Amino acid sequence: MVLAKQLIYWYLKNKRELPWRKTKNPYHIWLSEIMLQQTRVAQGLPYFLAFTKEFPTVFDLAKANESKVLKLWQGLGYYSRARNLHFTAKYVAEELNGVFPKTYKELLTLKGVGDYTASAIASICYNEPVAVVDGNVYRVLSRFFGIDTPINSNKGVKEFKELAQTLIDTSQPGVYNQAIMDFGALHCKPQNPLCHECPLADSCVALAKNQVKNLPVKEKT
Ligand code: ADE
Repeated sequence: MVLAKQLIYWYLKNKRELPWRKTKNPYHIWLSEIMLQQTRVAQGLPYFLAFTKEFPTVFDLAKANESKVLKLWQGLGYYSRARNLHFTAKYVAEELNGVFPKTYKELLTLKGVGDYTASAIASICYNEPVAVVDGNVYRVLSRFFGIDTPINSNKGVKEFKELAQTLIDTSQPGVYNQAIMDFGALHCKPQNPLCHECPLADSCVALAKNQVKNLPVKEKT
């Protein structure tokens, strides 16, 4: 079975039940993906619930006082994310009639939305086959393919992005992207990965070469 199908098969049995997985509402997906940058799911979850309760639509978030937004954000860190979030909510509400852009390329024009977030929203909400590459994806791919290019080098960023793009399941890109992220977070973990019960063990290069502990490689900066 190809890698994408194996990951999706694993995901359907093991995925985390999360509120933003019950919807394709781009406002909710955008909110969750901004919150989950550099943040664990368990830490981001209560903030997602608080924000969607307080601001059920992008218009509600746009109308809010900045001080209220920042107060609700307190504890999540990286406050520029909250400021960009508020700025973009106002932009979408006031300039785009509350309608989020629907393609990866257009999503990138939103303040605070980079390659990762645009790929996540475009794939999850609009089935655009664009691969996400976050820390989990680097770990899974570097181990499975035995790639030791440093993930924080220009060469590594390009190499992993291109590889990820070739692997995506074009019939369900949003499911695939979330599958590989959950697989990295829950199974192919940084410490104590579950290699002894891994569905990919037969084809994992790092496992065969006893290199799981040494991958991914990060360059000293
Ligand atoms: N980390 C950030 N966004 C995620 C998502 N949609 N699924 C799993 N892990 C994530």
